Amino acid sequence: SKQDNLDIKRVAGVAAAEEVQDGMVVGLGTGSTAHYAILRIGERIRAEGLSVVGIPTSYQSAMRARAAGIRVADLADYPEIDLTIDGADQVDAAFNLIKGGGAAHTREKCVAMASKRIITVVDPSKLSEHLNVPVPVEVVPYAATLVEKQIEALGGRSVLREGVKKDGPVITDNGNFVFDCDFGTIADPAGLEARLNALTGVLTCGIFTEFAEKICVLVGESKGCRTL
Ligand code: A5P
Repeated sequence: SKQDNLDIKRVAGVAAAEEVQDGMVVGLGTGSTAHYAILRIGERIRAEGLSVVGIPTSYQSAMRARAAGIRVADLADYPEIDLTIDGADQVDAAFNLIKGGGAAHTREKCVAMASKRIITVVDPSKLSEHLNVPVPVEVVPYAATLVEKQIEALGGRSVLREGVKKDGPVITDNGNFVFDCDFGTIADPAGLEARLNALTGVLTCGIFTEFAEKICVLVGESKGCRTL
């Protein structure tokens, strides 16, 4: 059920938050799983008197961090992050990720780039041998039609993300559109990431292939948590 899935996400988020230590700069991910990590970090700051600075990856995580009592700062102030806890939409066997189900992947990728360690928190439904869900691509609105054509030329089928309690396109925290681009099973994630990011008018795609060596994956389960 939906509640069981949230419980599983909470197990992963809470376990990841236990890795935070006094004095750390911590990247705060976006979405429902990272949310539980944010709540637990806030609890630990209150209970243990930890000194932690949070670097949000979205308006959502900034607001949730403030509400949880975590001091937040800009990436520009802390370009070196000790640990980031973030969710994902899909994780493959080589720890390549698809992100951006919440349209936050551009800032998430910036924070990932700046991080020494990343804990990716997921429920088991996110694990897949190969990446095969549509790739969120953040696009400068002026270039929307141009980018659609370029995606088609790369063999993808793109759908403008719309209608999340708003008529018309979803607007990202950076003021852009998102296309969800279906490439079927992605044989070469790094190659597709590079090709998508090179398109004129594209800001960032949601394929993350550069961080595998610093990622650890925590999978929530009904009884406990599994580390990959
Ligand atoms: C935000 O844009 C995404 O990258 C999230 O990290 C991803 O959608 C995971 O969300 P849930 O933890 O809510 O499944």
